[in-house]
Amino acid sequence: MTHNASRRSFLAAAASIGLSVPFLVANARAQQRGEHSRMLVACFSRTGNTRTVAEQVQLLTGADLFALKTTHSYPAEYRATTDQAKREQQEGFRPQLTEQVDNMADYDVVFVGYPNWWGTMPMAFFSFLEAYDFAGKTIVPFCTHEGSRLGRSVRDIEAICPQSTILEGLSLRGASDGSIRTASASAQEAVRDWVAGVGIQGKPRAGAMSQ
Ligand SMILES: Cc1cc2nc3c(=O)[nH]c(=O)nc-3n(C[C@H](O)[C@H](O)[C@H](O)COP(=O)(O)O)c2cc1C
Repeated sequence: MTHNASRRSFLAAAASIGLSVPFLVANARAQQRGEHSRMLVACFSRTGNTRTVAEQVQLLTGADLFALKTTHSYPAEYRATTDQAKREQQEGFRPQLTEQVDNMADYDVVFVGYPNWWGTMPMAFFSFLEAYDFAGKTIVPFCTHEGSRLGRSVRDIEAICPQSTILEGLSLRGASDGSIRTASASAQEAVRDWVAGVGIQGKPRAGAMSQ
């Protein structure tokens, strides 16, 4: 079998068990260069549920972590926050972020994690996704929610990043009562299964396996 034919049959076999071909190609190229794909986990979290998942993904994959923060704050009170977030969404507001990712060009895979706010990502994530060129990158979405799952967020990501490969997203039950539901053993198992299922082969950090 020629090199190209064996590569094609490997990719077909990988696709048949649900691994993403564009991701595998990017990963295979990185491995030929003796590297793993460089990965970033970008997250926004008000009360810690999404941040907890982001930190677990970081441990499992060896990705760098970037926490989005806005220059304006949200009220401590839940109802006031939902009112403000609703206004921001209706007005198409783009919050200013306090920090930038200076080396975005270095990342092949970007996990994006957010709480579901009014059916999609908080507007801070729209600011983030519009600030960089994600063409050719693999985007892996995850969200925490209280019933709406991923909502329309993946469609919104696709609209902003039409030249990216978007892998299957994960939604996990979170909470807004101050508890961290995503720290439970069952939530952590769901994250592990999802990372393995989308075919991400990172370089786990110490401690990832014993979680
Ligand atoms: C402004 C705001 C809007 C929300 N909108 C929704 C929603 O539309 N659907 C939903 O299921 N949960 C909604 N939630 C609940 C959050 O998605 C949920 O509590 C999430 O786990 C919080 O994540 P965090 O702890 O990382 O901030 C909303 C919460 C807030 C603060």
